[in-house]
Amino acid sequence: MMNRLLRWSGLALGTVVALAIIAFGVVYMLSERILGRTYEVPIVAVSIPTDPAAILEGRRLATVHGCFADCHGKQGEGRVMFDRPMIARIVAPNLTTAVRRYTDAQLATIIRQGVRPGGRSVLVMPSEAFVALTDADLGKILAYLKSLPQMAGPGPLVSPGPLGRIGLVAGKFKMAAQLIAKAIPPPEATTEEAAFGRYLARTTCAPCHASDLRGASNPDFTSPSLQVVTAYSQDAFTQLLRTGVALGGRNLRTMSPYARTNLSHLTDAEIAALYGYLHALPDAAGH
Ligand code: HEC
Repeated sequence: MMNRLLRWSGLALGTVVALAIIAFGVVYMLSERILGRTYEVPIVAVSIPTDPAAILEGRRLATVHGCFADCHGKQGEGRVMFDRPMIARIVAPNLTTAVRRYTDAQLATIIRQGVRPGGRSVLVMPSEAFVALTDADLGKILAYLKSLPQMAGPGPLVSPGPLGRIGLVAGKFKMAAQLIAKAIPPPEATTEEAAFGRYLARTTCAPCHASDLRGASNPDFTSPSLQVVTAYSQDAFTQLLRTGVALGGRNLRTMSPYARTNLSHLTDAEIAALYGYLHALPDAAGH
């Protein structure tokens, strides 16, 4: 009796293990197909300025957009952003080697279209925000990155773990090229200054607050809709971006340090334009 029970439970366990292996095999195959999918995008040449003023402005723009002093490491050397073997290992690659490996047009396509030479999409890179970068701003950012000395970094390794692959197959994680295709742009602006504010919000805030600026959620953080700016005076908004101190003297876990190291490099005119646009941002229903 006991023996038979044991035999049955052994068989049941074996079946469960076999099914799990088959299920994971299917997920692996489907996720490989998503990771390997190629996208056809136009390769657009950008001209890279070489004058020192443009390179200096490129440093500021690279900081404000988080390419430098954040995602890709303190000095563009790359950074391990996320490392949980079950979900994924995500390394923002070394930019000082990337600018030497790729042509200017290839770099522009990776940054704005999220697509590498060969047509595969990048993962995690917020190209759905950078798709709106002007040639002039992108040219200055690249000019600055190309002026950096080559540095040693952690290597360009992005490898999804089992849960990351399930997320890819279930459509919870998306490739950069997929995100660009489904990105919702923020509401149109009504004045020229507001249009500049919209451009800035779209390219500097959208990487964390979503392409439509309605807030985002990921394993790292949850960010609110930027309609919260309607509660801010211009002074309080300036204080948040320059010092990281939010309304009521609050220190925010992700936003505050990012404001101090990156957004504090926004100019007064840029902060005013951002405020003008965001303060008047209609709610998600358009009111
Ligand atoms: C690196 C990611 C990141 C970027 C880039 C970013 N934010 Fe945030 N922001 C957050 C997160 C996350 C929160 C939620 C609070 C937290 O966890 O830090 C937040 C909160 C806020 C808040 C709410 C503050 C409050 O009163 O609670 C405002 C306003 C804000 N951000 C404005 C902006 C603006 C404007 C930009 C662009 C110029 C921007 N953020 C860019 C991540 C970011």
